[in-house]
Amino acid sequence: MRLALLGCGTVGSEVVRLLHEQSADLAARIGAPLEIAGIAVRRVGRDRGDLPVDPALFTTDPLGLIKRDDVDVVVEVVGGIEPARGWLVEALRAGKSVVTANKALLAEDGASLHDAAAEGGADLYYEAAVAGAIPLLRPLRESLHGDRINRVTGIVNGTTNFILSAMDATGAGFAEALEEATELGYAEADPTADVEGFDAAAKAAILASLAFHTRVTAADVHREGITEVTAADVASAKAMGCTIKLLCIAARGADAQGRETVSVRVHPAMIPLTHPLAGVGDAFNAVFVEAEAAGQLMFYGRGAGGAPTASAVLGDVVAVARNRLAAARAASESAYADLAVRPMGEALTRYHISLDVADRPGVLEAVAGVFARHEVSIATVRQGPAGSGPVGRGSGAELVIVTHVAPDAALAATVRELRGLDIVGSVTSVLRVEGGL
Ligand code: NDP
Ligand code: HSE
Repeated sequence: MRLALLGCGTVGSEVVRLLHEQSADLAARIGAPLEIAGIAVRRVGRDRGDLPVDPALFTTDPLGLIKRDDVDVVVEVVGGIEPARGWLVEALRAGKSVVTANKALLAEDGASLHDAAAEGGADLYYEAAVAGAIPLLRPLRESLHGDRINRVTGIVNGTTNFILSAMDATGAGFAEALEEATELGYAEADPTADVEGFDAAAKAAILASLAFHTRVTAADVHREGITEVTAADVASAKAMGCTIKLLCIAARGADAQGRETVSVRVHPAMIPLTHPLAGVGDAFNAVFVEAEAAGQLMFYGRGAGGAPTASAVLGDVVAVARNRLAAARAASESAYADLAVRPMGEALTRYHISLDVADRPGVLEAVAGVFARHEVSIATVRQGPAGSGPVGRGSGAELVIVTHVAPDAALAATVRELRGLDIVGSVTSVLRVEGGL
């Protein structure tokens, strides 16, 4: 079994190392030796340390490598949309199975890859694309196929989880925590994809597609990052017995006509400390799946890094290699449900809102009136003198309001109107609440 490796960076170099170290075991598990036919990189002359590989295997011609007759399996760990899409479509159409960690491409245009795989009768595996080492996609696409999944809630970005965990532990602001994440090598030089939620949104699209048997792309996902989360928000959450996490949430729902829909969103949210995801600290990932018959399932582990990600890649390599030897193919994409994606405004959410208000008669009534006008029901209200609340500053009185579930658009409109009231000095913290309170 000969494989073409496209990319030899953080993940690719660990794939090479593990292939070398585990070669006898992998051969026994597959039923044939596994060899690297070639490695495509951008710079052949780059210093790759003591990587256990013949330098003659390196090439700057990925397409030439893919087209070689002696290549059975293509492993893509380069990333990005193009030229990766062109390479993988070419490989799949030619009947070569593909293993990829490329979440950005799968979320942008997974359909092209799945179509090419069907055309070429090849396998397309991508366990490493979501939550690194955690076996998650295989359970969704195989083990849970006898069940009906209703909701998937996950922490799928290690960098942002590290930052939020640091803010929670030390009271640091976002910028300070990002600096620490960068120093420790979690955040990249340009952390935009992580902190603005693009990375998590791509993973959310992939998870939703698999969980609900429908096609969801990154463009369908409502996305908010963590750059606006303040130390005051973190203090607010703590005062409620909660912590803040960047969550990806994919859930079934229904439109006004009762037709089944899905909503997929990524945003920071308060979750109670008793929620299974609250204890997921540092750069770890975890995904909580709620299925009709199986009930609640939790998947936890390392979501990033060379070796953990290479573990998932190699698991896929063994699976596709075995299939090829058996002249078999894994089940193809399951997108029969073809569900409409519901806009964020219609998603049902709960808000936690902290306000600085004037301390005089009628203020509570005026504030409550805004919620009533938008048909948002208040679950709890707490009032204290200025500075007594979780935010610990301001003048007049401090109000902390938690709502019942309402359409997100109604909640957002409520906050907009509150900001315009002359009795409201400032809205000091607005956070969505997930997982009960
Ligand atoms: P790196 O940037 O470390 O490595 C990218 C590799 O691709 C390098 O070897 C580079 O060559 C090569 N490359 C870049 N452009 C080209 C090109 N045009 N032609 C040929 N080779 C090229 O990326 P990572 O290893 O971190 O990530 C790879 C993939 O895995 C991405 O899709 C990423 O999203 C995904 N992933 C990464 C995780 C992680 O923790 N790093 C976790 C989960 C998924 P050269 O070495 O010469 O520069
Ligand atoms: N940048 C990603 C993270 C890498 O921080 O989780 C894994 O996909």
